[in-house]
Amino acid sequence: MRTTDHGGAPPFQRLYINVDHVATVRQARRGADPDPFAAARACEEAGADGITAHLREDRRHIQDADVHRLRAGIRTAFNLEMACTDEMLAIAERLRPHQATLVPEKREEITTEGGLDVRRDAARLAAGIARLNAAGIRSSLFVDPDEPSIRQSHALGARAVELHTGTYANRPGDPATLAALVTAADLGASLGLAIHAGHGLTVANVGPVAAIGPVEELNIGHSIVSRALFVGLADAVREMRRAMDAARRSA
Ligand code: PXP
Repeated sequence: MRTTDHGGAPPFQRLYINVDHVATVRQARRGADPDPFAAARACEEAGADGITAHLREDRRHIQDADVHRLRAGIRTAFNLEMACTDEMLAIAERLRPHQATLVPEKREEITTEGGLDVRRDAARLAAGIARLNAAGIRSSLFVDPDEPSIRQSHALGARAVELHTGTYANRPGDPATLAALVTAADLGASLGLAIHAGHGLTVANVGPVAAIGPVEELNIGHSIVSRALFVGLADAVREMRRAMDAARRSA
């Protein structure tokens, strides 16, 4: 893992870019363009530390062929987002991404709407995590930033949690949403979990999340792909990277 060059500052934070939104535009015409693999490579060239793609059960954006190309061809780490189902677990076992992030999935939702219900789905999640860990895939659970979710994720054997930042993003100016992320990150780190975060992050709101010490990875998609329409993907990635680094330096 890289470290920062400003001695004494918090460790380097990884920026993983979610390329689902590129596939969404392609699927509007069911053609070949824009190509999420080409976008992933452009993101890497601009400084992304990893690429995230969500293979949904309904295949509404990312397709099976995409995850195979991403796994085989990107130069950084591949984080496969997926539901904890037999079908997806079997795909992950064949594909062997560097990391798999388990997320809840509802067919009617526009995007992932909240963290996993780690208590209701405990047995299924524990079995899924065990399969991922056995395959040498780093397991992460997308959870809401609350104490029971963090403790249960640890008990289930996950290596990492991705804290859902959607509530924070949707309620600008509400200090409670940031405080919840800070408390959850500290608790998770104290239990030995790696701490990731993501959903709804933008250049304007990423700073306070990037500044949370234990947060070692951010997963960001929509705002970067949206901004890319105006400034290009490389500059959109660099703008995000700069915003993260500035917040981390002054933390
Ligand atoms: N993390 C998870 C688990 C997600 O489902 C998503 C949305 O695809 C993201 C991060 C990225 O969110 P956004 O596209 O809002 O940046």
